[in-house]
Amino acid sequence: MTFDRTWAEVDHYFARLLAPTDPILEETLAASAAAGLPVQQVSALQGQLLTVIATMINARNILELGTLGGYSAIHLARALPANGRVITLESSPRHAAVAVDNIAKAGFADRVEVIVGEALDTLPKLADRSFDLVFLDADKANNEDYLRWALKLTHPGSVIVADNVVRGGDVLDAGSIDPSVVGTRRFADVLGAQRRLAATVIQTVGAKGYDGFALAVVLGP
Ligand code: SAH
Ligand code: DHB
Ligand code: MG
Repeated sequence: MTFDRTWAEVDHYFARLLAPTDPILEETLAASAAAGLPVQQVSALQGQLLTVIATMINARNILELGTLGGYSAIHLARALPANGRVITLESSPRHAAVAVDNIAKAGFADRVEVIVGEALDTLPKLADRSFDLVFLDADKANNEDYLRWALKLTHPGSVIVADNVVRGGDVLDAGSIDPSVVGTRRFADVLGAQRRLAATVIQTVGAKGYDGFALAVVLGP
């Protein structure tokens, strides 16, 4: 992947000012690393982006796919009003156990629910719910299906955010057999074709290299 040292330095410069790390986030990252979880959480500034978006739209009910150690879930929970909820779906019982612990230490045990299982198995259990914000950050191979679920589980005005849609430019490879690339390209096709969505992609560089977020707003029923 192309990588420029300046990207990480600029990320850290702004993160120090705008998203200074605190003991809770530090502990979450330390506990996740100590448990041997993969280092795939959003960056500090990306986490702050999730907090900003959730706050902008007054999100009360938030759905996340892909919990890992709970780092992004804690950022989402920080934007919640007192009666708000985050539901986060995680296939790995080991990741989920670390997340439950981190979320409890962050003081959100009562507002964040971690549901263990393959997202395609657990999403149907949420069929009667409606979410103001959906963050797609599980396996990218299934992102087309996750987007269709997100459309079922949202309402006009809801926002859908998807992480890792660029992957250093790998998304350009129409002949790729990488399931993440194939899944992302299918996801992008639906994103563009879906009349109920207005969507865009923000390419990002930073501490995690070159990647991007898809951002969509649900327009109609
Ligand atoms: N959102 C997290 C990072 C998630 S990394 C953060 O920024 O802090 C992706 C996570 O998705 C991993 O923990 C992985 O175990 C999980 N995952 C992968 N496939 C999944 C599936 N089919 N259903 C649910 N979770 C899945
Ligand atoms: C990977 C997954 C992510 O969600 C991410 O943000 C970075 C990397 C991965 O599967 O490698
Ligand atoms: Mg991600």
